[in-house]
Amino acid sequence: MNKPITYAYLETTNYCNLECSFCNRDEVIGALNHMPIPKFREMMEKIKHHPIKEAKLMGMGEPMLHPQFDEIVQIFKEYFPNAFLIVATNCQYTIQNGTKLRERFQHALNYIDLLYFSIDGYGESYERDRSPAKWSRLLTFLKDFKEMDRRGCRVTCNYVVNPQNVSDIQRVSDEIVDGYGLEELRLNIAQDWSSDKSLPGGYTKKQLSYLKSWGDNVKGKNEWDFEDCFWVNEAIYTTVEGNIKMCCMNTGAKPFGNIFETDLEDIRNSVDYQNVKLGCNTNNPTSHCKNCSYKELVPMLQEIQMV
Ligand SMILES: C[S@@+](CC[C@H](N)C(=O)[O-])C[C@H]1O[C@@H](n2cnc3c(N)ncnc32)[C@H](O)[C@@H]1O
Ligand code: SF4
Repeated sequence: MNKPITYAYLETTNYCNLECSFCNRDEVIGALNHMPIPKFREMMEKIKHHPIKEAKLMGMGEPMLHPQFDEIVQIFKEYFPNAFLIVATNCQYTIQNGTKLRERFQHALNYIDLLYFSIDGYGESYERDRSPAKWSRLLTFLKDFKEMDRRGCRVTCNYVVNPQNVSDIQRVSDEIVDGYGLEELRLNIAQDWSSDKSLPGGYTKKQLSYLKSWGDNVKGKNEWDFEDCFWVNEAIYTTVEGNIKMCCMNTGAKPFGNIFETDLEDIRNSVDYQNVKLGCNTNNPTSHCKNCSYKELVPMLQEIQMV
């Protein structure tokens, strides 16, 4: 028997304007695609009976590149008015006065509860890790955003930390988070989402103790085991094609089914799905979970606590 779904992570486009060094998007996406509005509605119909409390409308792409992104968030809220809706954006496009994108962005703010601005590093290090992003384009975006009515939407900075950008945290906090009135600086230790585990790691003790000084700004759980995995019990991850995956940590995995082709409960009841779920629930993970980056982050976060 499956629990109802309370958390949804839905990809509405896999188009992106960047190739970030820490993101495995190019490894896992299929043909480029924006989910058509009728398909998005169809998906809502298929999940509407679930008590979704929180949702992320993102995935392996830049959500704001969807040509009807504002309609997507509006429709989501039509179906789930009380769900807390989070969106992440890379801010590498123009929302200058008079542009279509500004109108769409402004409209979308009515429906988004929390917007993450993905900004990692300052100046050169930002441009290095978020290639071909430009720092100047980011500053123009932030200047244009500053004049906007946020319509109650909270906005934070989501900073993916690696050993090469630790030293920029303070400047981003002072000049970007404080300078543009963002609510919080969220520091996420870069997770290795790649299948070959090729993301370089290796922090010095000094860097770890510096990270410790950022306290609650550093996100993630320093105590976690597979039996704590909520994805297998009460979450859903869908790709732009409607494929069902288990979680956002293993987007390269073979889908368990497609929500437009097979009933969602049949997919969740399939042998493969149930095996992964049972593996986690009994703390005896299957091979599906061997690269879980939650699990990999635990010792790292513990080290930060202990230095
Ligand atoms: C995959 S992106 C999609 C949304 C959008 N394109 C963006 O960059 O904000 C969603 C979030 O995941 C973060 N992210 C990407 N790769 C990551 C990694 N290896 N570890 C932790 N967070 C990562 C991004 O910085 C972003 O905040
Ligand atoms: S992190 Fe976001 S902006 Fe960067 S490549 Fe991945 S999807 Fe694109």
